[in-house]
Amino acid sequence: MVDSGPSGRGSAITIGLDAATKVPGRASESHAAETGAAALPVESVPDRYQYLGPISAGGMGSVHAVRDLGLLRIAAMKVLAPDLAARPREVQRFIREAQITAQLDHPHIAPVYEIGTDRSGNRYFTMKRIEGNTLGDWITSVGRQPGFADALSEMLAAYLKVCEAVAFAHSRGVLHCDIKPSNILVGSFGQVYLVDWGLAIVGPERSLPREMPNLVVAGDTNLDMGGGPCGTPSFMSPEQAAGARRRFDERTDVFGLGAVLYNILTALPPFDSDDVNGCIDKATACVVTFPPGDPTAPLPLGLCRIVKKAMARDPDDRYQSVLDLKRDVEMSLRGFPLHAEIIPKGARIVVEGEPGDCAYIIVRGSCIAYKTVDSKRVLLRHLTAGSVFGETAVLSGGTRTATVEAEDEVLVKVVPRQLLEDNLGLNTAFGLFVVALADRFRELDARLAELGQAAASDPAPDRT
Ligand SMILES: Nc1ncnc2c1ncn2[C@@H]1O[C@H](COP(=O)(O)OP(=O)(O)O)[C@@H](O)[C@H]1O
Ligand SMILES: [Mg+2]
Repeated sequence: MVDSGPSGRGSAITIGLDAATKVPGRASESHAAETGAAALPVESVPDRYQYLGPISAGGMGSVHAVRDLGLLRIAAMKVLAPDLAARPREVQRFIREAQITAQLDHPHIAPVYEIGTDRSGNRYFTMKRIEGNTLGDWITSVGRQPGFADALSEMLAAYLKVCEAVAFAHSRGVLHCDIKPSNILVGSFGQVYLVDWGLAIVGPERSLPREMPNLVVAGDTNLDMGGGPCGTPSFMSPEQAAGARRRFDERTDVFGLGAVLYNILTALPPFDSDDVNGCIDKATACVVTFPPGDPTAPLPLGLCRIVKKAMARDPDDRYQSVLDLKRDVEMSLRGFPLHAEIIPKGARIVVEGEPGDCAYIIVRGSCIAYKTVDSKRVLLRHLTAGSVFGETAVLSGGTRTATVEAEDEVLVKVVPRQLLEDNLGLNTAFGLFVVALADRFRELDARLAELGQAAASDPAPDRT
């Protein structure tokens, strides 16, 4: 049985490091103000630093803000919990975390400045202090409220940077194994960092390109981490839940990235339960379901499909590399985000003769398209889910050629001109063909209207 403390389901655990001495689960990782993280005793702080205050604390250690008195810059100091100092394997794991992080020189991985032992004998390392919040805090503050669509595109931009950091680590033979929103720090000016390489695994070397040497760590390359679950229960892959470390590979982190995307989309962790064991059971079963959608803000289907693939139970069914996953997210973003609108029954969505700046896709419900001839409606067609309309006025720059009215309550996605132009490549040579088609249609439409008027005004032919 696993017991990693009261806040274990969202916190990293490694069970079985030492059968007799279970490693405690880490407490909540949100900011010090929320966690009540304790300050370091000032007399412990090494001479070269001025202590500024706690950032976060957990069962394994704590993170603090300090000022380097030589360089005058502020740094983040991660300190191993004093009660773990007597456990050589924990000390080695902490040193290993610092060494791995230090060798991963990447714009989205915090540079390590120094490693040492403080005046009370506690192990610490210092790194770049990242100003900002965790992605987890950001997701919680936004929820799925109005404004979610805007935040979503910003979060996805940050997410793609995390994918780059993970892909880079993989290229150096390092698996993170604990990818989750509370280990992603986001600043206000595009800074994004994947932190906490405490559960990282070095290897497998087979995937390394020749020119990229594997990074080195002191002692065992792969520290014996025991056989229990490893990772964070509410975000972990089935192989992590099973503690099957031999089966960990790049696709284990693909799973973690899928779980982060799930959290971004739903504001919920993929596996939730009242206790850690319940979470681990769910991670083992690996059934990924999305909460019932809010009809006014449906979950983007393309991204949900990506989550499902990244979080497949069998690693063979997942993206085989982080870059494949990243590519799919980018492709999905090209047509995204689309704002959705609910149109009440009987409302006219576009009106013949009026200018129009956007096109529409029907997600749910049906509409009729008609023209008005001699004050009478001439039905053109029925439009149902999946139909598009309103594109002619956008593409050819004229007015609407018909009126479209909701037959019942209709959910539409609105495609603004800019998005249509971007995605159809209208500024390319091939875009000219699309515009030409729209122009031809408009000409034909106008010609038919003229012919209709002429027929109506001509005297009836003499049939006798
Ligand atoms: N370099 C940093 N700059 C600012 N805050 C940090 C930094 N590294 C970690 N933190 C904060 O401390 C928390 C815990 O750090 P982390 O490395 O995840 O430790 P743990 O091993 O306890 O999970 C993070 O969630 C983040 O809020
Ligand atoms: Mg952490």
